[in-house]
Amino acid sequence: MSAIDDCRILQLPAIHNRQGNLTPIHPGIDVPFDIRRIYYLYDVPGGATRGGHAHKELEQLIVSVMGAFDVILDDGNSRKTVHLDRAYYGLYIPKMIWRELDNFSSGAICLVLASLPYDETDYYRDYDEYLRTMKK
Ligand code: TYD
Repeated sequence: MSAIDDCRILQLPAIHNRQGNLTPIHPGIDVPFDIRRIYYLYDVPGGATRGGHAHKELEQLIVSVMGAFDVILDDGNSRKTVHLDRAYYGLYIPKMIWRELDNFSSGAICLVLASLPYDETDYYRDYDEYLRTMKK
């Protein structure tokens, strides 16, 4: 079972230029999994909370490519909050970690790189069910 200590901030490459910065991401090199899906959250209204689930198999890298937000990580034993506000830092989340995203700044964009295609059966959306699985 994964623990929140297995979640870690990965520093992504950043190519700085007076005309702007660029961050390339190479699957298997900058991210410890093959990227099978990419999605992003945007137009998140103030006060909204996203996430509120864990995944049975999915691994993710979460990047704040614009603005800032908090990711609350929970492994059924302990909780911690990670603040993301840089386009060259990615938060790696292994499988079986409960997460919630909140405190989105205005205009924030949350990029998510995912190890698997979308599959609703991969989700735990009920926290009590997730906890029961983690305590087995
Ligand atoms: P969800 O994963 O709950 O979003 P978040 O964790 O950001 O709050 O997904 C929200 C909705 O979008 C849900 O109906 C499933 C759908 N969805 C897809 O169809 N494909 C995807 O790749 C994702 C991530 C979600």
